[in-house]
Amino acid sequence: MAGQTQRRKRATHEGFLRHRGFLFLKIGTVLCVGVTAAYLFQDQRLPRGGGTLLGYGLGTAGALLIVWLALLGVRKRAVTNGYYSLKAWVSAHVYLGLALIVIGTLHTGFHFGWNVHTLAYGLMMLVITSGAVGVWAYATLPKTLSDNRAEATRKQMLARIRSLDEALLDAAQPLPRIDAEIVRLSLEKTEIAGGYWQRVMQNWDNCANKAAIAQLQPVLAGATGQQAAVLRRVDALMRDKADALAQARKQIHITALLEGWLFVHVPSTFALLAALVAHIVSVFLYW
Ligand code: HEM
Ligand code: HEM
Repeated sequence: MAGQTQRRKRATHEGFLRHRGFLFLKIGTVLCVGVTAAYLFQDQRLPRGGGTLLGYGLGTAGALLIVWLALLGVRKRAVTNGYYSLKAWVSAHVYLGLALIVIGTLHTGFHFGWNVHTLAYGLMMLVITSGAVGVWAYATLPKTLSDNRAEATRKQMLARIRSLDEALLDAAQPLPRIDAEIVRLSLEKTEIAGGYWQRVMQNWDNCANKAAIAQLQPVLAGATGQQAAVLRRVDALMRDKADALAQARKQIHITALLEGWLFVHVPSTFALLAALVAHIVSVFLYW
């Protein structure tokens, strides 16, 4: 049963790439081949680029495609029946978005320079590249996420850390102040998630709980009798907390990777739309 759920989860995640037997990959490929043929076989005597008949055709097709691709943001938020219609949208989004590389590049006739036209082109490539990173993230990461999630859900992980903190507080009661300070370090200064880069880079070296464990070791080595027993219990609890933190942070890391590319994809979409308007307006003003 659990295996079946896993399999279904994975199938729907990967589904948009294979949707309807790669229908949109085929459409995108035919589009690219047709457009390239038209470019190669156009009248050789005319200059190439956005100003030719084919250039206008490709520019208009590219601009319409970009507006439609940007509308996925609206479509995602519209609640409709059935997951599959959204899946078809995402599938078309990915393959027609990739076809835009060919359409956009041939529209320019390979004329690039330091101007608003090339700015629009550069932003288009940035949106497309970040989208490709997103597809890679969707295709590879949710599997890891669900494996990790199978052991404990996010809420359960946080609850475990909280209950370990309570146990630590209890266990530390008999300790003298100087030793209790070490426990306080773990209780009060441990950050579970940290900043965005910390989550992406998995850099938790400055973890307060880790520092507390290190500080406890010499104290534990010198302790005897009742105090040694209390310190051993504190040490064990802090190590359990380190395990719980590691597990929670693994999930936090994956979630950060899964969302990170959208921080590039969405803002550069808005910048692209603005640059595109500037490009089209300036082209018609020069006329
Ligand atoms: C309705 C849509 C569009 C129209 C009417 C249009 C029109 C034009 C025209 C007339 C040119 C020739 C300008 C010249 O030779 O001085 C041109 C060039 C160019 N277009 Fe577009 N375009 C459109 C869409 C796009 C799109 C979607 C992109 C890419 C994001 C783009 C990027 C460029 C670039 C990089 C050039 C080359 C500029 C140069 O020659 O220095 N255009 N466009
Ligand atoms: C100029 C071209 C493109 C534009 C303007 C564009 C724009 C967008 C926008 C506005 C969203 C919605 C994001 C949100 O609201 O959460 C989106 C989502 C997405 N885009 Fe693009 N995109 C483009 C090309 C691509 C390409 C080429 C790929 C893949 C190779 C891609 C992959 C994705 C994916 C995977 C999503 C998320 C879909 C989901 O959440 O289910 N995009 N894109």
